[in-house]
Amino acid sequence: MAQQRTTFNSKLGLIMASVGSAVGLGNIWRFPCEAGEHGGGAFLIVYILCVMLLGLSVMLAEFFTGRASQKDAVGAFKILAPNTMWKIIGYNGVIAAFLIFGFYSVVSGWTLEYIYQSASGNLRADSVEEFTANFGKFTSDVFRPVLWVVIFTLITHIVVSSGVKKGIERSSKIMMPLLFVILIILGIRSLMLPNAVEGLKFFFNPDFGKINSAVILSALGQAFFSVSVGMGCMITYASYFNKSINMPNTAVSVVALDTLVAVLAGIIIFPAVTSFNISPSQGPTLVFVTLPNIFQQMPFGDLWSFIFFVLLAIAALTSIISLHEVVTAYLHEQYRMSRRKATAIVSLCGLALGIICSLSFGVLSHVKIFGVIIFDLLDFVTANLMLPAGGMLICIFAGWFISKKALKTELTNSGTIRFRLFAVFAFIIKYVAPVIIALVCLNQLGLF
Ligand code: PFF
Repeated sequence: MAQQRTTFNSKLGLIMASVGSAVGLGNIWRFPCEAGEHGGGAFLIVYILCVMLLGLSVMLAEFFTGRASQKDAVGAFKILAPNTMWKIIGYNGVIAAFLIFGFYSVVSGWTLEYIYQSASGNLRADSVEEFTANFGKFTSDVFRPVLWVVIFTLITHIVVSSGVKKGIERSSKIMMPLLFVILIILGIRSLMLPNAVEGLKFFFNPDFGKINSAVILSALGQAFFSVSVGMGCMITYASYFNKSINMPNTAVSVVALDTLVAVLAGIIIFPAVTSFNISPSQGPTLVFVTLPNIFQQMPFGDLWSFIFFVLLAIAALTSIISLHEVVTAYLHEQYRMSRRKATAIVSLCGLALGIICSLSFGVLSHVKIFGVIIFDLLDFVTANLMLPAGGMLICIFAGWFISKKALKTELTNSGTIRFRLFAVFAFIIKYVAPVIIALVCLNQLGLF
């Protein structure tokens, strides 16, 4: 008889682990920056539509694939579609997870430096220009950011090597509630700042005139990245779900909590930005340059800054764990390697890639591929091409290759639970999602 597969211990644990994967730098670092650059409220509305319509459906298609097969991202397709090319979706996911791991570990490492700087009271400068210069000096250094990548990868390694239940589930169950508490404390603090209302207006008052194709495209890309779909992560996690889990409800909870965190991040950041009269459209340096500048002007600034970067580090850790797990589960199951060995290989190779990405801001900055440094290349290729392509293919797979009956049986736990919107879901994955995502991919490639 086949060996019983590892499953998450509890419903709460699996939701926390999945939310942990979804909630990350994407919500707290990338979302406010995208929203700031694309008109605030207008972006928020389009983003929520993208997440509800497409993010949720792709997640459910991944949940189906993972739990029906009980396998890793590649193995799942070998079981559900033997001797076909569909396993390409799995390979795309495993490679994307590894590449994202590389640049994600670098930004995660930066959060540790900022925790350290806040704790030691050194996160200070006389002007935004000086903050920017300090940030540039730090990220291009040969030693410091690399050291933080090593430390962050080591922590990730320890969690993943402790296994699915003891490592991933248990740590997420502690870290995610902590993250929510920190978010709420910071949100309240931000709302108490003078002129906070202006920030809220920017974030919540949609100016529909600002919605254009660029806004829609960036909202869609952000939605995929944020809910961790398109790369086999949710396939891998769902393979650890037991057969009584209500997957439609779980997907709704994960997506709702992920969106809530993104909105809370906006509530923290935009009032702070307008209160100190700074433009919200700062771009990627919003969190590492603008916020420290704001914190420094607040009473107990070091403390707030410390709390904020701890929050960012926790969010990053629970996400990077899931990236690691996608590749680890693949090696462990497809090559019959011990889990320990698989974890070690992923950590070491991921570390090497992380170091290269980190150095691409400094000594390797002259190495440009398609005109961009290695870090930016990995970011672009994964978030803008591999994830949407993976998301589109999984929808086509579940919508066209898998029979509606099989899909419904798995998603309703053989008819024991109700999934009222099944017909809507089936329609979206069959027609709506593939077409919209294809248009986005073509657009990213400049072909449309
Ligand atoms: N969802 C994560 C974030 O918002 O930061 C990033 C991510 C994690 C993307 C895991 C994809 C993934 F599989």
